[in-house]
Amino acid sequence: MIAGPQARIVAPDCYTGRMELPVDRIVETLRGVPPPAFGPEEICARLKGVLLDPRTLAPYLHFANKRYTRNLIYRDEIFELLALCWEPHTESPIHNHSGQLCWLSVQRGALRLDNYRSLDGPGPGDGIRLVPNGGIERAGLGVLDLQQGENGIHRVSNPFDERAVSLHVYSRPFDICLAYDPVAKTSREMRLVYHSVGGKLVGRRVEHRQ
Ligand SMILES: [Fe+2]
Repeated sequence: MIAGPQARIVAPDCYTGRMELPVDRIVETLRGVPPPAFGPEEICARLKGVLLDPRTLAPYLHFANKRYTRNLIYRDEIFELLALCWEPHTESPIHNHSGQLCWLSVQRGALRLDNYRSLDGPGPGDGIRLVPNGGIERAGLGVLDLQQGENGIHRVSNPFDERAVSLHVYSRPFDICLAYDPVAKTSREMRLVYHSVGGKLVGRRVEHRQ
Protein backbone atom coordinates (compact mmCIF):
# COMPACT_ATOMS: atom_id res chain seq x y z
CA MET A 1 0.00 0.00 0.00
CA ILE A 2 1.39 3.40 -0.97
CA ALA A 3 -1.67 5.49 -0.16
CA GLY A 4 -0.85 9.09 0.73
CA PRO A 5 -2.96 11.56 2.68
CA GLN A 6 -4.70 12.87 -0.44
CA ALA A 7 -5.56 9.46 -1.82
CA ARG A 8 -9.21 8.56 -1.58
CA ILE A 9 -9.25 4.80 -1.44
CA VAL A 10 -12.76 3.86 -0.52
CA ALA A 11 -12.59 0.11 -0.31
CA PRO A 12 -9.33 -1.64 0.60
CA ASP A 13 -7.82 -4.72 -0.98
CA CYS A 14 -9.24 -6.85 1.79
CA TYR A 15 -12.87 -5.99 1.14
CA THR A 16 -15.25 -8.85 1.75
CA GLY A 17 -18.74 -7.66 0.83
CA ARG A 18 -19.03 -9.03 -2.68
CA MET A 19 -22.29 -8.43 -4.48
CA GLU A 20 -22.70 -9.70 -8.04
CA LEU A 21 -25.01 -7.65 -10.27
CA PRO A 22 -25.87 -7.77 -13.95
CA VAL A 23 -24.75 -4.71 -15.94
CA ASP A 24 -28.35 -3.60 -16.47
CA ARG A 25 -28.91 -3.47 -12.74
CA ILE A 26 -25.96 -1.18 -12.04
CA VAL A 27 -27.08 1.14 -14.86
CA GLU A 28 -30.58 1.15 -13.39
CA THR A 29 -29.20 1.78 -9.91
CA LEU A 30 -27.11 4.74 -11.05
CA ARG A 31 -29.95 6.18 -13.12
CA GLY A 32 -32.09 6.06 -10.00
CA VAL A 33 -29.84 8.53 -8.15
CA PRO A 34 -31.33 12.03 -8.24
CA PRO A 35 -28.85 14.39 -9.98
CA PRO A 36 -28.20 16.56 -6.88
CA ALA A 37 -27.26 13.40 -4.94
CA PHE A 38 -24.88 12.09 -7.62
CA GLY A 39 -21.78 12.67 -5.49
CA PRO A 40 -19.03 10.80 -3.64
CA GLU A 41 -21.07 9.49 -0.73
CA GLU A 42 -24.07 8.18 -2.63
CA ILE A 43 -22.17 6.63 -5.53
CA CYS A 44 -19.47 5.08 -3.36
CA ALA A 45 -22.23 3.43 -1.34
CA ARG A 46 -23.79 2.05 -4.50
CA LEU A 47 -20.54 0.80 -6.07
CA LYS A 48 -18.85 -0.55 -2.98
CA GLY A 49 -18.51 -4.32 -3.14
CA VAL A 50 -20.20 -4.56 -6.55
CA LEU A 51 -18.80 -7.11 -8.96
CA LEU A 52 -20.59 -7.29 -12.28
CA ASP A 53 -21.84 -10.63 -13.49
CA PRO A 54 -19.09 -11.59 -16.00
CA ARG A 55 -21.65 -12.95 -18.49
CA THR A 56 -23.42 -9.59 -18.70
CA LEU A 57 -20.14 -7.67 -18.82
CA ALA A 58 -18.62 -9.84 -21.57
CA PRO A 59 -20.26 -8.01 -24.56
CA TYR A 60 -18.49 -4.80 -23.50
CA LEU A 61 -15.01 -6.28 -23.13
CA HIS A 62 -12.76 -5.62 -26.11
CA PHE A 63 -9.00 -5.83 -25.76
CA ALA A 64 -6.36 -4.36 -28.08
CA ASN A 65 -2.70 -5.19 -28.52
CA LYS A 66 -0.31 -3.30 -26.28
CA ARG A 67 -2.80 -0.73 -25.03
CA TYR A 68 -5.90 -0.28 -22.96
CA THR A 69 -9.37 0.32 -24.40
CA ARG A 70 -12.34 2.44 -23.30
CA ASN A 71 -15.69 0.76 -23.87
CA LEU A 72 -18.88 2.75 -23.33
CA ILE A 73 -21.71 0.92 -21.62
CA TYR A 74 -24.10 3.81 -20.90
CA ARG A 75 -24.09 7.61 -21.10
CA ASP A 76 -26.54 10.40 -20.32
CA GLU A 77 -26.07 14.01 -19.24
CA ILE A 78 -25.37 13.05 -15.61
CA PHE A 79 -22.92 10.17 -15.89
CA GLU A 80 -21.23 7.70 -18.17
CA LEU A 81 -20.33 4.10 -17.40
CA LEU A 82 -17.35 2.46 -19.09
CA ALA A 83 -15.44 -0.80 -18.97
CA LEU A 84 -11.71 -0.36 -19.50
CA CYS A 85 -9.77 -3.39 -20.72
CA TRP A 86 -6.09 -3.65 -19.88
CA GLU A 87 -3.70 -6.00 -21.57
CA PRO A 88 -0.72 -6.98 -19.41
CA HIS A 89 1.95 -4.25 -19.21
CA THR A 90 -0.21 -1.38 -20.48
CA GLU A 91 -0.77 2.00 -18.89
CA SER A 92 -2.74 5.22 -19.24
CA PRO A 93 -1.06 8.57 -19.55
CA ILE A 94 -0.95 10.59 -16.36
CA HIS A 95 -4.21 12.53 -16.61
CA ASN A 96 -6.82 14.55 -14.81
CA HIS A 97 -10.62 14.34 -15.00
CA SER A 98 -11.62 17.83 -16.14
CA GLY A 99 -12.87 18.67 -12.66
CA GLN A 100 -15.39 15.81 -12.72
CA LEU A 101 -15.80 12.85 -10.38
CA CYS A 102 -14.32 9.52 -11.43
CA TRP A 103 -14.94 6.20 -9.71
CA LEU A 104 -12.89 3.15 -10.65
CA SER A 105 -13.74 -0.39 -9.57
CA VAL A 106 -11.47 -3.35 -10.37
CA GLN A 107 -13.60 -6.11 -11.91
CA ARG A 108 -10.96 -8.55 -13.11
CA GLY A 109 -7.25 -9.00 -12.47
CA ALA A 110 -5.41 -6.18 -10.73
CA LEU A 111 -4.23 -2.63 -11.48
CA ARG A 112 -1.64 -0.25 -10.13
CA LEU A 113 -2.94 3.20 -9.19
CA ASP A 114 -0.49 6.12 -8.92
CA ASN A 115 -1.79 9.49 -7.76
CA TYR A 116 -0.08 12.82 -8.42
CA ARG A 117 -0.44 16.40 -7.32
CA SER A 118 0.45 19.43 -9.43
CA LEU A 119 2.51 22.18 -7.82
CA ASP A 120 1.52 24.54 -10.64
CA GLY A 121 -2.21 24.09 -11.15
CA PRO A 122 -3.80 21.75 -13.67
CA GLY A 123 -2.68 23.53 -16.87
CA PRO A 124 -2.73 23.19 -19.82
CA GLY A 125 0.72 24.66 -20.28
CA ASP A 126 4.43 24.28 -19.64
CA GLY A 127 6.38 24.19 -16.42
CA ILE A 128 3.83 21.92 -14.70
CA ARG A 129 5.57 20.06 -11.90
CA LEU A 130 3.97 16.89 -10.58
CA VAL A 131 4.76 15.16 -7.32
CA PRO A 132 3.68 11.64 -6.32
CA ASN A 133 0.63 11.60 -4.08
CA GLY A 134 0.11 8.02 -3.01
CA GLY A 135 -1.83 5.22 -4.62
CA ILE A 136 -2.04 1.44 -4.53
CA GLU A 137 0.70 -0.85 -5.85
CA ARG A 138 -1.73 -3.68 -6.49
CA ALA A 139 -5.44 -2.90 -6.47
CA GLY A 140 -7.18 -6.26 -6.64
CA LEU A 141 -10.70 -7.39 -7.32
CA GLY A 142 -13.36 -5.09 -5.89
CA VAL A 143 -11.06 -2.19 -4.96
CA LEU A 144 -12.89 1.09 -5.44
CA ASP A 145 -11.05 4.37 -6.03
CA LEU A 146 -12.39 7.90 -6.37
CA GLN A 147 -10.66 10.80 -8.12
CA GLN A 148 -12.06 14.24 -7.49
CA GLY A 149 -11.16 17.91 -7.59
CA GLU A 150 -8.13 19.66 -8.98
CA ASN A 151 -5.82 17.08 -7.46
CA GLY A 152 -7.57 14.21 -9.18
CA ILE A 153 -4.48 13.40 -11.25
CA HIS A 154 -3.41 9.81 -11.67
CA ARG A 155 -1.99 7.06 -13.82
CA VAL A 156 -3.66 3.66 -14.04
CA SER A 157 -1.51 0.77 -15.21
CA ASN A 158 -1.49 -2.98 -15.49
CA PRO A 159 2.11 -3.99 -14.77
CA PHE A 160 0.98 -7.56 -14.12
CA ASP A 161 0.96 -10.63 -16.38
CA GLU A 162 -2.82 -11.05 -16.55
CA ARG A 163 -5.48 -9.03 -18.30
CA ALA A 164 -7.49 -6.65 -16.15
CA VAL A 165 -10.88 -4.96 -16.41
CA SER A 166 -12.02 -1.87 -14.55
CA LEU A 167 -15.45 -0.27 -14.35
CA HIS A 168 -15.51 3.54 -14.45
CA VAL A 169 -18.24 6.02 -13.60
CA TYR A 170 -17.63 9.63 -14.67
CA SER A 171 -19.94 12.41 -13.55
CA ARG A 172 -20.47 14.43 -15.48
CA PRO A 173 -19.26 12.84 -18.70
CA PHE A 174 -16.32 14.57 -20.42
CA ASP A 175 -14.56 14.12 -23.75
CA ILE A 176 -11.38 16.09 -23.13
CA CYS A 177 -9.00 15.96 -20.20
CA LEU A 178 -5.39 16.96 -19.56
CA ALA A 179 -2.48 14.57 -20.05
CA TYR A 180 0.77 15.23 -18.21
CA ASP A 181 4.37 14.55 -19.17
CA PRO A 182 6.29 14.65 -15.89
CA VAL A 183 9.68 14.76 -17.65
CA ALA A 184 8.88 17.58 -20.08
CA LYS A 185 6.73 19.17 -17.33
CA THR A 186 3.87 19.77 -19.74
CA SER A 187 0.10 19.51 -19.51
CA ARG A 188 -1.77 19.08 -22.79
CA GLU A 189 -5.38 18.54 -23.79
CA MET A 190 -6.19 14.97 -24.74
CA ARG A 191 -9.36 13.93 -26.57
CA LEU A 192 -10.88 10.76 -25.19
CA VAL A 193 -12.20 8.15 -27.60
CA TYR A 194 -14.24 5.00 -27.25
CA HIS A 195 -13.02 1.68 -28.56
CA SER A 196 -16.58 0.36 -28.53
CA VAL A 197 -20.03 1.78 -27.81
CA GLY A 198 -22.85 -0.42 -26.52
CA GLY A 199 -20.74 -3.50 -27.27
CA LYS A 200 -20.03 -2.55 -30.89
CA LEU A 201 -16.54 -1.65 -32.08
CA VAL A 202 -16.11 1.94 -33.25
CA GLY A 203 -14.77 2.49 -36.79
CA ARG A 204 -12.24 0.01 -38.08
CA ARG A 205 -10.97 -1.30 -34.83
CA VAL A 206 -9.80 -4.89 -34.78
CA GLU A 207 -11.50 -7.42 -32.57
CA HIS A 208 -9.50 -9.11 -29.81
CA ARG A 209 -12.13 -10.72 -27.64
CA GLN A 210 -11.52 -11.81 -24.09
FE1 LIG B 1 -8.55 8.41 -14.60
